[in-house]
Amino acid sequence: MLIKKPADIRPSEITSEQNYLDRRTFMRVGALVGGSILAPSAISAVVPDRRGTKLTGVSKSSFSTDEAPNSFEDITTYNNYYEFGTGKSDPHENAQNFDPLPWTIKVEGHAEKTGTFDFEDFIKPFDLEERIYRMRCVEAWSMVIPWVGISLAEVVKHFKPTSQAKYVAFETLNDRKRMPGIRRGSLDWPYREGLTIAEATNPLPILAVGLYGQVLPNQNGAPIRLVVPWKYGFKGIKGIVRMRFTDKQPLTSWNMAQAREYGFYANVNPNVDHPRWSQARERRIGSGLFASKQPTLMFNGYGDEVAHLYKGLDLRRNY
Ligand code: MTE
Repeated sequence: MLIKKPADIRPSEITSEQNYLDRRTFMRVGALVGGSILAPSAISAVVPDRRGTKLTGVSKSSFSTDEAPNSFEDITTYNNYYEFGTGKSDPHENAQNFDPLPWTIKVEGHAEKTGTFDFEDFIKPFDLEERIYRMRCVEAWSMVIPWVGISLAEVVKHFKPTSQAKYVAFETLNDRKRMPGIRRGSLDWPYREGLTIAEATNPLPILAVGLYGQVLPNQNGAPIRLVVPWKYGFKGIKGIVRMRFTDKQPLTSWNMAQAREYGFYANVNPNVDHPRWSQARERRIGSGLFASKQPTLMFNGYGDEVAHLYKGLDLRRNY
């Protein structure tokens, strides 16, 4: 992955959360109130700009870390979303006018329940929870992010996968008109990711629809993206339009691009270096350029919850 250091981000690119919200006209009304959500057509008519809309009916999760979250600015101005460019500030700059709604998610493959669902209908059966998770990027930086999302395990159970379903594959929207980075061909589109069924039904992963109590900013994967806190950030596929239950290990974008550097499992592991850099330590974004790096924890510190998933697997080979 291409790396741009925080020093490369101009101060003018960084906006306070208040300015960020003030810039949006407040014609949004509470579209997402008490867990009941307006139909997409109603949202587009009443809420021309959904950005900044507060999410309500969100409960706190016992899985949250008590580490201090990064600022809204850190989380929304420094990340990867190659569909909007390869620079760390590109998603923030180039996704501003992306209108994610209406949005549909196709569920297919080895499951009793399949079909194409409007985003609102897709998330309606599930509880919204705030999960404050440590996130570790393969590029050796980390953040703490207060996500709002729904449990992936609950979503998987809802669609009733059959015994043939060994993996869940995900795909991102592939729209070259709305996503300028796609025209540059930096990856083989659509962006793809996958988990084993055991990983997908572990209680930790969520499909995030918000952060800091408001709907997910475009650059963070609106309207819905995967969050798997014990894996490197690239597993957190954004802008999901397709979920497939499959019997074969699915292709994943970074593995397709550079198999030697990026594996299917991508568990955070301080003992297995990336071929071009160490994974032993990480730089917490927002801690200042001169702050010392902190040690990276096995499974990003979530070992108690997930280490059993990999019993008997050689994690040096299955990276
Ligand atoms: N999802 C899509 N569709 N396209 C991408 O380029 N980049 C990944 C992941 N999800 C990416 C993606 C990478 S490399 C990282 S580190 C995370 O998104 C970073 O974004 P976040 O900080 O918003 O989680």
